[in-house]
Amino acid sequence: MGHSKIIDLPKIIDIRGNLSFIEQTRHIPFEIKRAYWIYDVPGGEVRGSHAYKFNEEFIVALSGSFDVVLHDGENEYRYHLNRSYYGLYIPKMMWRRIENFSTNSFSLILSSTSYNKSDYIRDFNAFKMNLNE
Ligand code: TYD
Repeated sequence: MGHSKIIDLPKIIDIRGNLSFIEQTRHIPFEIKRAYWIYDVPGGEVRGSHAYKFNEEFIVALSGSFDVVLHDGENEYRYHLNRSYYGLYIPKMMWRRIENFSTNSFSLILSSTSYNKSDYIRDFNAFKMNLNE
């Protein structure tokens, strides 16, 4: 199983405004099949609470901040994302939830697979059993 990690992105500093970018396989370790974003999150809401059997993700806080909480079946890891020039890589088979969204937070999520309902594991005990298979 791979490891989650913070990946720094290029940051082109410019008095006209800064610019960052992501290229598949150069900055993140997979080919991008899908992008989606989460926005207008009401205070106190939690997204996620599931794992993917195959999908890998890269999450960037384009605006505002939030916490990504990961669980590998043994340990929990909390990442606070609040800048648009780095992101969090999440390998497959990692339980994840996103919480503590700030007002007007805007998260961009890049995925290694197209949306596939059957890739989700939504039960934590089933996730742990899958890890042992
Ligand atoms: P879901 O991944 O369950 O949201 P979260 O994990 O953030 O709580 O997705 C919510 C709904 O959106 C679900 O009905 C499926 C749909 N959806 C798509 O159709 N395509 C996508 O790429 C994603 C991520 C979700």
